[in-house]
Amino acid sequence: MADAFGYQLKGSAPERYERYVGPVMAPFVTALLDAVDLYPGATVLDLACGTGFAARAAAAQVGPAGRVFGADINAGMLRVAEAHHPRLYPDIEFTLASADNLPHPDAAFDAVVCQQGAQFFPDLHAALAETARVTRSGGRFAATVWADLSLSPYFAAQHEVIREYGGPERAESYSAAFACTADRLTSALRAAGFHDATAHEVTFGIALPPLAEFIRGHLSVLPWGQEILDAHGEDVLTAAGRALAARLADRTTPDGTATLPFTATLATAVR
Ligand SMILES: C[S@@+](CC[C@H](N)C(=O)[O-])C[C@H]1O[C@@H](n2cnc3c(N)ncnc32)[C@H](O)[C@@H]1O
Repeated sequence: MADAFGYQLKGSAPERYERYVGPVMAPFVTALLDAVDLYPGATVLDLACGTGFAARAAAAQVGPAGRVFGADINAGMLRVAEAHHPRLYPDIEFTLASADNLPHPDAAFDAVVCQQGAQFFPDLHAALAETARVTRSGGRFAATVWADLSLSPYFAAQHEVIREYGGPERAESYSAAFACTADRLTSALRAAGFHDATAHEVTFGIALPPLAEFIRGHLSVLPWGQEILDAHGEDVLTAAGRALAARLADRTTPDGTATLPFTATLATAVR
């Protein structure tokens, strides 16, 4: 099995990630940033920043006196992050770095946010200990991870299709991305030296673009979709997309769009 566990995308997938994952991440980015109470002038790290959704939103909130950094292990994601970040102040500094080995000094950040990254860290405790090191005393941390698959019908249906077209091992690897529980996060945060660690579920109804096109594109920016493509070819990935659309048919409106609930666990803590 490839490195789906670290959510590694290759080739042109990081470019497509911005387009196909953006609609699903957008409301959660707002909730994530609200949870760390950003203010003008704050210094913020977007950990496992990917193409930089949260970093860009943070830059708009901290303004010209603030500073925003992004760190991720995927060079392709960072390339897209660089290309997409608005040439406005403050500049965002994106760095190729693993969450458990950050290049930033101690107590560098007023806030650290991590959107849909923590479930992919091979060593959550090491990553959060490193996050605690770079967060100043009193600084805020917030992370989202997807909640149980059963709470997000789109993902539940996608899981079934990955099993059908990619096999049970791939389906198991996919479901691991939904297995980082609130308890696991909060106890790892406490062990890392954060206090007031809490977590709750947040649900948004997200209006997805016409599914006939969106589903295939979204599958192609998942590591599991990429694996199906590599192992079985374009036609099988397209068939998987059609099967997913069929599973969601009863939730799809006549114009082909669908508004579906997505649920994440939002964990917060103070350093
Ligand atoms: C699902 S994507 C989320 C990206 C972004 N935060 C967003 O909101 O779209 C997961 C990201 O975690 C990154 N990642 C996985 N393991 C990592 C690690 N150990 N250190 C830093 N980044 C990591 C991946 O490269 C990928 O960009």
